[in-house]
Amino acid sequence: MVRHRRQSGAGFLLVGDTWYMIGEDRGNSWHPDVNMYSSKDLQHWKFEAKIIENGVTHPGLGKDRFIERPKLLYNKKTKQYVVWCHWEGKNYGASEAGIFYADNITGPYKFHKGERPLNVKSRDCNVFVDDDGTAYFISTIDENQHLGFFTLSDDYLEAKDCKWLFKGMRREAPAIVKVDGVYYMLSSACTGWDPNQCMLSYSTNMLDGWSKLEPIGDRIAYDTQAASILTIKGTKQTTYLYVGDRWMDPDLPQSKTIIFPLVFKDGKCEIVPLDKFEINYKTGEWREL
Ligand code: GAL
Repeated sequence: MVRHRRQSGAGFLLVGDTWYMIGEDRGNSWHPDVNMYSSKDLQHWKFEAKIIENGVTHPGLGKDRFIERPKLLYNKKTKQYVVWCHWEGKNYGASEAGIFYADNITGPYKFHKGERPLNVKSRDCNVFVDDDGTAYFISTIDENQHLGFFTLSDDYLEAKDCKWLFKGMRREAPAIVKVDGVYYMLSSACTGWDPNQCMLSYSTNMLDGWSKLEPIGDRIAYDTQAASILTIKGTKQTTYLYVGDRWMDPDLPQSKTIIFPLVFKDGKCEIVPLDKFEINYKTGEWREL
């Protein structure tokens, strides 16, 4: 288990052997800047930059606007880095997505736009890039009722299409990983900062055929809510890591980022709630400490 401060709702991008992490800097509780850190072992982190800053990147940010769950993408065609996030206003009434882009990973990031993608009210969110480069923005839509699977344009700057899935199931904090051709999604119920039972669903088609939700982990997801799933490809094995937020620990600014191994075996998936473990980044193997 690895704890970090002030990187809530984190999104990750692997560049060579370096992990870049962006997240909500909740130092200013309800108006987080977005910080970027880098690491080779997911334990020792170097601060890179404040990539999105209140009052700087956008005049409304820090006043009537705030960001949650920023996620980082790299577009091979345009060679640009793109951030998608939840772009919110008073009482979560805006229900929009924010899009930023930059030529360099550490920025400067420019505001592209903030809007309801395809006019759909959108809140908690994540991104997923498939093997062929197709990117998706997955968010909790229509007043937290369903999940919207938005297919992004080739430059990752626009939502092209939206498939409404998990209808009426009120899921949020979606995090998707692809393992041996199968998409697995973890998600939570909508209980604000309080943790609840994480649920798993899987499908061989991103936009169809998702299995019935089934519980994974303990009743409160080991006091976390999913933020990301990481894939560590080693010479001997591929290891998957669950990254979750332990909100309000004990207050919003001190919320923690918690990492656990996520094990896939015989079509089943399990969170291994270890207090301490280490990873061999060459072989991909991990062991409890
Ligand atoms: C959670 C959500 C967080 C944040 C929070 C506000 O359910 O996952 O990202 O929006 O609610 O209460």
